[in-house]
Amino acid sequence: MQILDGKKTSEDIKKEIAAEVQQMKANGEKVPHLAAVIVGTNGASLTYVGSKVRSCEQIGFDSTLVSLPEDITEAALLNKIKDLNEDDNLDGYIVQLPLPKHIDEEKILMAIDPDKDVDGFHPANFGKMALEMETFLPATPFGIMQLLERYKVETSGKHTVVIGRSHIVGRPMSILMSRKGYPGDSTVTLTHSRTKNLEEYTKNADIIITALGVPEFLKADMVKDGVVIIDVGITRVDDASNPKGYVIKGDVDFDGVSKKSSFITPVPGGVGPMTIAMLLQNTLLARKIRSR
Ligand code: GUN
Repeated sequence: MQILDGKKTSEDIKKEIAAEVQQMKANGEKVPHLAAVIVGTNGASLTYVGSKVRSCEQIGFDSTLVSLPEDITEAALLNKIKDLNEDDNLDGYIVQLPLPKHIDEEKILMAIDPDKDVDGFHPANFGKMALEMETFLPATPFGIMQLLERYKVETSGKHTVVIGRSHIVGRPMSILMSRKGYPGDSTVTLTHSRTKNLEEYTKNADIIITALGVPEFLKADMVKDGVVIIDVGITRVDDASNPKGYVIKGDVDFDGVSKKSSFITPVPGGVGPMTIAMLLQNTLLARKIRSR
């Protein structure tokens, strides 16, 4: 069994990007500039956005944090989006989700200039992804593809079972794994809450990618020997014995399932750390496209 180490791999990718940024600087070129928009003070969102901005600083990108009040109107937020779209100094930006309930998320995401949509959430970019065109891949699926590639996990002709059909993980993952080339060329089954007899699929899977949010849902008796496990679940579970008062659990019963696996991502330290690295990779791509 081999661990797919997202912490180490994400550090490697960040070092590679930092080296490219140094080269850009040495050539007198503009370095990539990422902005992150956060609305309100949701604790988890503040943490995520904080580490995105810190990572930019680490690798030599310019970064801007746009903090907006919880009660901002939809119209005012759309105005801010317009400013960011028109800001020639900016290569890419993200609007951290979830947004407050009074704001229509879809309307906001649709307003982002697809050329600056480094989250890859705009329908234009989602369509390009499905059509195998150059675009910004959504960060979590992109990170999973990188882990598979860097650990040389065989995917061609394999049966990949994706659990969960969310717009930011399961659905794009099912598309990427069925695309032509490596990693990809898989036969994909996309399962979800209405799937009957899920175990019939997981027991026949060569690769399982689970993005469900149910702690330790996938057990050893639901998988076959030699399976590749990608665990995207991150759920806080109360734990009084932990100083934080909680522990982070994945969708997979790691102790049991890892004994039958050929490759497996841990939680934490697997898929999670990869997402920021891939956001930075997309921002670098945005800069390169803009300088063509
Ligand atoms: N909220 C949870 N994950 C993400 C992400 O990848 N991008 C944005 N913008 N918001 C998120």
